[in-house]
Amino acid sequence: MTKASDVFTLKNANNIEVTFIGRGGQVIGIKVPDAKGQIADVVIGYENVDAALAGDGYFGALCGRYANRIVEGKFELDGTKYQLDINNEPNHLHGGNDGFNNRVWDVKPYADSKYAQAYKLSIVSPDGDQKYPGELTVSVIYGLTDDNEFVIDYTAETTKPTIINLTSHAYFNLKGAGTGTIENHVLELNADKYTPISAELGTVTGEIAEVKGTAMDFVDAKKIGEACKSDDPQVKLVDGIDHNFVINSYDGRLKLAARLTDSESGREMEVFTDQPGVQIYTGSHFDGTETGKLGTPIVKWAGVALETQIFPDSPNKDHFPNAVLRPGETYKHTCVYKFS
Ligand code: BGC
Repeated sequence: MTKASDVFTLKNANNIEVTFIGRGGQVIGIKVPDAKGQIADVVIGYENVDAALAGDGYFGALCGRYANRIVEGKFELDGTKYQLDINNEPNHLHGGNDGFNNRVWDVKPYADSKYAQAYKLSIVSPDGDQKYPGELTVSVIYGLTDDNEFVIDYTAETTKPTIINLTSHAYFNLKGAGTGTIENHVLELNADKYTPISAELGTVTGEIAEVKGTAMDFVDAKKIGEACKSDDPQVKLVDGIDHNFVINSYDGRLKLAARLTDSESGREMEVFTDQPGVQIYTGSHFDGTETGKLGTPIVKWAGVALETQIFPDSPNKDHFPNAVLRPGETYKHTCVYKFS
């Protein structure tokens, strides 16, 4: 049986190293060489496993059953009304008080020739877990390829109709965790549209808006700090970016969602997904009171999360992508973080 504190490492031929733990499948380190071969850890977090277990349980974690927010924790499926935990007033966030980030996953080595190394993480979530219907059986492959791709491949099946939206919650800082903020990172998004939020709802309003002419326009690459420091009312609401972007021409096939570059180190990361959305979150709630890697405080904008997903509150919005999973169907989601 896997323990919360068990540490697993994936390595490839190019000195990339991904480290994660049993609890939440939390990715606690991704070591990547820069243009000169200098290695840095590009995910923010804590200095050791004990601190990771005691600290922010979302850092690098697998989130579910429904990652992101559901308005007031309510949804209706096949005529039955469900009320989920309100763990982020007034909403349900990342699967509730005891979300998948908090569970110890069963971890086993996984053999597949496309990966230099891989592990399979599994969990069975009982019927009624966090008040979601259906027993949900989830498998997640963490695979590292010799092409410098960290692949996260999710599948899930249910015994009753339910809703699902899984994601991974790592915050990246390509210069290196603990070296400052991501304001100078350049971000490009394959997204002409995003889903605006409102202060009253604390999440998406249901509108799908053009990014053109707003701070949310990353169609042409620009510095994240430029957006975070703008007067755009959407930015002001969350002191940065905490928004879902609509990936262009979604068709369920893997495509480029985002490209993140740090010119100082020369490191670049591309994000590919078969999902319709990506939540960009600049970590605006970090206030420097916690000590992270390199012994430095985890400050506002210390990292950026790129969470591939279905849209927030989809179960309550008919015009958003479908988040319903029925018996006999398989939920599938692939996310690739590719480093160069
Ligand atoms: C959300 C943030 C939230 C954070 C919690 C992100 O996915 O978008 O609003 O504060 O998770 O770690």
